[in-house]
This record gives sequence, C-alpha cells and structure tokens, in this order.
Amino acid sequence: MLPTHPPHSSPHEKASQTLVLGIESSCDETAAAVVADDGSVLSNVVASQTAVHAKFGGVVPELAARAHISQIDGVVNEAVSQARLSIHNLGAIAVTTGPGLAGALLVGVNYAKALSYGLGIPLIGVNHLEGHIASAWLGDPTFPLPCVVLVVSGGHTHLYRKGQTGECLLLGCTRDDAAGEAFDKGAQMLGLEFPGGPSIDRLARQGDPTAIPFPRFHQRKTSLEFSFSGLKTALLYTLRKMDEDARAKKLADLAAGYQEAIVQVLVAKALAALAHTGLSALAVVGGVSANSRLRTLLAERVKREGIRLALPPPVYSTDNAAMIALAGRQRLMTNLQADRPIDIQPSLRQGYVRPSVYDKEIAHS
Ligand code: KG4
Ligand code: ZN
Repeated sequence: MLPTHPPHSSPHEKASQTLVLGIESSCDETAAAVVADDGSVLSNVVASQTAVHAKFGGVVPELAARAHISQIDGVVNEAVSQARLSIHNLGAIAVTTGPGLAGALLVGVNYAKALSYGLGIPLIGVNHLEGHIASAWLGDPTFPLPCVVLVVSGGHTHLYRKGQTGECLLLGCTRDDAAGEAFDKGAQMLGLEFPGGPSIDRLARQGDPTAIPFPRFHQRKTSLEFSFSGLKTALLYTLRKMDEDARAKKLADLAAGYQEAIVQVLVAKALAALAHTGLSALAVVGGVSANSRLRTLLAERVKREGIRLALPPPVYSTDNAAMIALAGRQRLMTNLQADRPIDIQPSLRQGYVRPSVYDKEIAHS
C-alpha cells in the first residue's frame, strides 16, 4: 500500500527538487527518513527487528524480509508525517540497493519503485556503504574534504580516502572478519545477548581491559589492512582454559579485554591512514562507531594530535535511512543520479555504484 495522500491531491503543494525521502531495508532495520534542501534531517524513523531475531542469535533472512514487508508502509508514513510534509512535497526517493540480504533489499527497492512511479519523482539507488560514509556529514555538515573515512559495520572494516569531489579511494580493509562480526561472534562465545556489539560495550564498562591480554593485529605498522579472525580464536582458547566459575567471574574482564583489542587496532589503523595520506580530518562511521570505548579513545587521540573528527551521533552510526537520503541527495546534486533501471545488488562490494567516480577511483588504484 502506498502512503496516505493520493497523487495530485493537493495542487498547491510544490515538490522540492532536493527534499529526499530515504528508504533502508538491507538487513534487520526498516528505516525511512526525510532530508531537507540544506541537508538537515527532518525525520528519521527506524523500526528494529532485534526482537524477531534475538532468539536465533543472528539475523534470519526470511524473517527479516517478512518483517520489512509488514513494517515498511507504516515507517515511511511516519517519516513523512514527522517531517510535517505531504508526500507531494518530496522531490526524490533514495533507496538502498545493496549490499545486503536479497529478500530484505527487494522489499525496500520495490516499495521505493512503486512510490516514485506513483509520484512521478526520481528514484536514486544508493550503496549502503556510500550511505554510511555520508552519515559523517549528518552530524557535521561542514566536515572538510579531503578526509579519511573508516567504515566499521557488521560486514565491513574499510578505510577510504574521500577526495575533494567526493570520490573514494580504498586504502585498506579487513582480510577476514569485519569489526562488527568480531563483536557479534565474540559476544556469542561469551554467552551475551544479540546483537553482540552493544552487549560487549555495556558489559566491558564493568571490566578491566588489561586483566586478560588479547593479541592485536599490527603485523606491519604501515599496513592499512585489518584481521580479526586471530582475535576470535584467542578468545575461544582463553575460554577453553577457564571453567564455568572462572568465566562467570571474569566475564566483564573478558569483554573489556576483547573490546580493547578491537578498538585499539581500529584507532591505530585510522591514524596510520591519516599519516599515509597526509590528511588531518577523520570520519568514523558504521554500527561499530557507536561503541563507547572507541569513541573515548578516538576523542583522546584526535585531541592530542590536532585531528578533526567526524563521529556522527550513535543514531546515525547504526543502520538508518537519513544517511541513505543524504547520499541520494549528494548524488542528485552531483548528477551521479542514474537514469537507469534500479535493482537490488545483494553482493555489491566496497561502496561503488555504477556509474560513479567511486568505480573509476578503485579501478585505477
Ligand atoms: O552499520 P550496522 O548497523 O549494520 C551493518 O551495515 O552491518 O552495523 C551493525 C554492527 C553489528 O555488528 C553490531 O554488533 C555493531 O554494529 N554495533 C556495535 C555497537 N552497536 C552496534 N559494536 C560495538 N559497540 C556498539 N555499541
Ligand atoms: Zn550498515
């Protein structure tokens, strides 16, 4: 079902060219948001499916798709109404096309297609990573370019150099697990509730990060690549050596030590990327950037080293549609918006949507 107002119901309502509705359904959050002409967020609605997936200890794709179907219409209506708009005020719709779960992406993309067709406004396909990168400017619209961007989410640990015209050059990424995956799998081993990142974050506050040592992946100091699989194995072996009593007593220390090993590597590599590029502006985005210890450590380091940091509020770190709307708006403004059929791209990698400068940069790197 399309949102409330029938097409052409209010002739006096003038559509704005850059008032963009964002829709995000790539994983387990159904989200819609409206971003205004000046890039400010008019509404940001997120319906989380945590309760649906919690008992399975991870996201179940089929259940995610079904939950998106039941939520999407209400979420979009809510976003438009919280923005105090009629859908006829919208100038464009931006929707996540990938990467993500195929069934989940289909719900958002098909809904967005129908709505844009009904309203006669452009539809812009947005890469989920491009959305996360754009979130840096939701928190700080004046954040400068060029800058280094660290994307840390459930599926990605990627360092980019974002240039003056918005193009992104991949500097390094994980060789195996993403940082969010390391949090989620570590939490599972520790018997903590899903989603694992926030659980470890909370428990670690009561623990001593130095009590139980965990390895850091710093093979070559200059390398901008990450690896977290060894850390996961280290946790497994540490737990095997402990009986149940010891585990229960040391649970907070284990969480704190494990978390510290992840966030220290993230901070070290982000700083190494700044040194490598000679830049002094750093954006840290994606679900893991909501981590409180990472935030503290980053704040300390940037202060000491005179680095400008964009760390969007946690509500824009985890999956949301404001970042998709903003990325879509940036595409509209730079004419990267494509007049091409838009379809889901579940395995789209590393933040490149064709045709865009993103592709060209990576192809020549
Ligand atoms: O960006 P996001 O919401 O979805 C993806 O694109 O993957 O990131 C989700 C990831 C999950 O792995 C989750 O455990 C992690 O972000 N996460 C956190 C925190 N909040 C979410 N990790 C550590 N500390 C947090 N506070
Ligand atoms: Zn995400």
